Amino acid sequence: MEIVITESYEEMSKRAAQEVANLLNTKPNAVLGLATGSTPLGLYRELIRMHKEEGLDFSQVITFNLDEYVGLPKEHPQSYHYFMNENLFKHINIPPQNIHIPSGTTSNYKAFCQWYEDRIRQCGGIDLQILGIGADGHIAFNEPTSSLGSRTRIKTLAQQTIKDNARFFDRPEDVPRYAITMGVGTILEARKIILLANGKGKSDAVAAAIEGPVTSMCTASALQLHPNVMFILDREAASKLKMIEYYEWIQANLPGAPKS
Ligand code: PGA
Repeated sequence: MEIVITESYEEMSKRAAQEVANLLNTKPNAVLGLATGSTPLGLYRELIRMHKEEGLDFSQVITFNLDEYVGLPKEHPQSYHYFMNENLFKHINIPPQNIHIPSGTTSNYKAFCQWYEDRIRQCGGIDLQILGIGADGHIAFNEPTSSLGSRTRIKTLAQQTIKDNARFFDRPEDVPRYAITMGVGTILEARKIILLANGKGKSDAVAAAIEGPVTSMCTASALQLHPNVMFILDREAASKLKMIEYYEWIQANLPGAPKS
């Protein structure tokens, strides 16, 4: 695992955007796995800036989003379809047919989930998956005790997640109870994974994911099994890591790192 500790949300976001840009510069038709939530907003802002000011090209990019609330139509302001369009897609030159987001309104969830899995494979698999992390250690909507081999399916949201996400809805009872989400097993098949986390509220989950045991109680801990994972954190999110000095030493001494 590569652990990068940054000094601010902006620096975290820019570092992640640089990773995306490096991939697109070497593979213009890369397949990106994308996340919603407040964490990746800065990354998306930076990608939009790079597109507008530096010509970062998304014309061949294919995307797969991690999850969607069940029951919210695409036009609902809290749906992840709406979020992605507002915060990224409508500002860049990605063809609409290259965008995949799980459907929250399909009449056949089982068939849809299978189609989503098949479609990822048909597109050659995900090159780079962006992840946030929940306060309970979830990745996508893989709540505690989700199988670490799980695939795209319907999940009941944990009370903690409903509480955390209530801030986006008028009333807590408006938060959907179910989501359709890629599984942990689906996520682990991405060639590279970047998990972003900022703020104190994520520090316990980040420490459990990086330094705790691999356990379905913290589904982000499954990333320890993946050979190409990068955690990009701000200092608050990193504050409960026991080996923080070690991670910073490694970063400072990476081959090619500037020598001070
Ligand atoms: P957040 O959500 O980015 O809004 O904190 C992260 C998550 O629950 O995965």
